[in-house]
Amino acid sequence: MIDLICGARPNFMKVDPIIRNLSEKVRLIHTGQHYDYAMSGSFFDQLGLPKPDINLGVGSSTITVQTADIMKAYEPVFLQGKPDAVVVVGDVNSTLACVLTAVRHGTSTIHVEAGLRSFDRTMPEEINRLLTDQISDLLLITSQEARENLLKEGRPDGSIVMVGNPMIDTLLRLLPEADAREVPDDKFGLVTLHRPGNVDDRQLLGKILDSLGMLAPLSLIFPAHPRTLKNIQNWDLQSRVPHNLTMVKPMDYLDFIGHQQAAEVVITDSGGVQEETSVMGVPCVTVRPNTERPITCTLGTNILCPDPLEIPEAVEKQIKKRPAVPPIIPLWDGGAGARIACEIERILK
Ligand code: UD1
Repeated sequence: MIDLICGARPNFMKVDPIIRNLSEKVRLIHTGQHYDYAMSGSFFDQLGLPKPDINLGVGSSTITVQTADIMKAYEPVFLQGKPDAVVVVGDVNSTLACVLTAVRHGTSTIHVEAGLRSFDRTMPEEINRLLTDQISDLLLITSQEARENLLKEGRPDGSIVMVGNPMIDTLLRLLPEADAREVPDDKFGLVTLHRPGNVDDRQLLGKILDSLGMLAPLSLIFPAHPRTLKNIQNWDLQSRVPHNLTMVKPMDYLDFIGHQQAAEVVITDSGGVQEETSVMGVPCVTVRPNTERPITCTLGTNILCPDPLEIPEAVEKQIKKRPAVPPIIPLWDGGAGARIACEIERILK
């Protein structure tokens, strides 16, 4: 039996293709890191994911406490189920907490989306990635530079397998359904910002909002993460929200990918959005000094924009460079879930 772990919004579209392809018995464990319907339940409904077998219900707190809470809640569940392997995806607190619990008990551990590095240790996700990769037995990667990163960190070549990108399996499966979703008739840009590095700094968040105002008359739609919304309200930044920017609640998956596909440009600090826009050939501007997904800049449609003042220039450049057809990224082809399932079943034999 396998424990497959999910907890936060970007995990759900990654576990979906794995669970669809595994023939082994699976327990789907939701840590409860995200708990709002918009951040969690709506994804289960739209993806057609089975209800989690167990929800640890940990909820929000500081990174340290949240990680510890997940470990405390998962250990008894783990001991009761005695899984033969634990599969974790991505780089959120749930990923590290569950892999660490499993390793303590000597169970096989598998990390899907291993080896991504921003080389920025101020990002909580970078610490989660580094530690998870050091202690996982099997490292399943989405792009070749991940192999180089893992080898440099001393992980054996034999533990690394290129499987492609499971998030793209879900995107390709559900894009036709998302086509039917309503999007604005006029040209628009889509904005998502939630990284602590951008939105937990009052001055920087204010500067980003000002800079987005300079994109007028292009109208912008901003489905805001709860963290971002809270900070805008707490810091009285509402007056800095420019007229061309419409803040809306977090979108469900189909609405969001439908809007991405129709957008003139996407401005983001998310990891997954850099990948999705690349596959769809939609110009993307990433408001960060680095990315753990450099393939989106080399083969895809992404550009980094570390200085918020330069967003207008970056947006103009990206829109001009829009490719006539979407780029092809090796093994981001809808078949990652099947390859991941094969590898998991192989390690169990
Ligand atoms: C987490 C991940 C991040 C991922 C993001 C996607 C870590 C370290 N970070 O960041 O990599 O890109 O998810 O969303 O794991 N909140 C709600 N409702 C919810 C969940 C959260 O209101 O359902 C609020 C809480 O006040 C919480 C805050 O949002 O304190 C942040 O949530 P948290 O899970 O701590 O981190 P994210 O910023 O969502």
